[in-house]
Amino acid sequence: MTQTLTLRRPDDMHLHLRDGAMLAAVLPETARHFARAIIMPNLVPPVVTGAQAAAYRDRILAALPDGMSFEPLMTLYLTEATDPADVAAAHASGLVKAVKLYPAGATTNSQSGVRDFDKVRGVLEKMAEIGLPLCVHGEVTDPSVDIFDREAVFIDRVLDPVRRATPGLRVVMEHITTKDGVDYARAQGTDLGATITTHHLIINRSHILAGGIKPHYYCLPVAKRELHRLALREAATSGEARFFLGTDSAPHPDHLKEHACGCAGCFTATNTMSLLAHVFEEEGALQRLEVFASLNGAAFYQLPPNEGTLTLVKGDAVDFPAKIESGAGPVTVFDPGFPVHWKVQD
Ligand code: DOR
Ligand code: ZN
Repeated sequence: MTQTLTLRRPDDMHLHLRDGAMLAAVLPETARHFARAIIMPNLVPPVVTGAQAAAYRDRILAALPDGMSFEPLMTLYLTEATDPADVAAAHASGLVKAVKLYPAGATTNSQSGVRDFDKVRGVLEKMAEIGLPLCVHGEVTDPSVDIFDREAVFIDRVLDPVRRATPGLRVVMEHITTKDGVDYARAQGTDLGATITTHHLIINRSHILAGGIKPHYYCLPVAKRELHRLALREAATSGEARFFLGTDSAPHPDHLKEHACGCAGCFTATNTMSLLAHVFEEEGALQRLEVFASLNGAAFYQLPPNEGTLTLVKGDAVDFPAKIESGAGPVTVFDPGFPVHWKVQD
């Protein structure tokens, strides 16, 4: 008997779509399976104001192929010059669903991020007042902190102090990669959520480095040791409301990944739902995939769950494309390194 799994249409609560030719190439990969996504604002230049977010939303909708439906949930990039009134207006109009905090220098296009947290106090207080979530890239940028420790140190040095200084601020710890992140999230109340990517459920740091360097497995935060991957799997499949899917699917053209100073990002939009079904089945938790990918994120963002459904069918090993073409060059699709038998039904 064929095994099938039907769930409410999922949402991707952390997605990079880029702009221009890359946007046109990657948007259908997400819209094919996901109803909505939280769209990251780290363009060049970044999406800082409500007006910029409205224009970016229009470009995304214009790039959507005929016959596909998709709702981009827009975010603003927090800078030390962000105007609390502009943020509040963009939220009140329904345009903006979150503000993204990148510590300056933490990752791709984060030069305009925050250095001095005192300078964003007014914005954070306004966000706490109006209930607008802050999505946090949780890594310190202090070069003296080892890259594998940057998430754990961020929690102690930055995240916890900022949350204590701003009571009521709703926060999403984005793409947690450590048991420290899981444990911290679990110890908090309902004003804190945490996204988990598909690739961090699959690779640990040895996958990046053993047997030759694998640039397509390099992302930020970088994958950690195996005990952390296991903690993420346990959290994602637990069904707990605070944990939800944010793929962090982050396309870069191959020539910038396969490079002496390669860009960070794994492109998983194409095969994420198949990979998640594989992982959840391995963990004996297929019945909780819907909670993780379709219900918990919507609930945190106070959105109704999607009406549509997505069906996965288990059969022969699926042939995913190795790359997708974009006007900016080919983009390699994340290869889990094992056969996957779950396919999204057309
Ligand atoms: O791996 C990553 N890629 N991590 C990020 O935080 C940013 C992203 C990107 O924009 O490429
Ligand atoms: Zn990201």
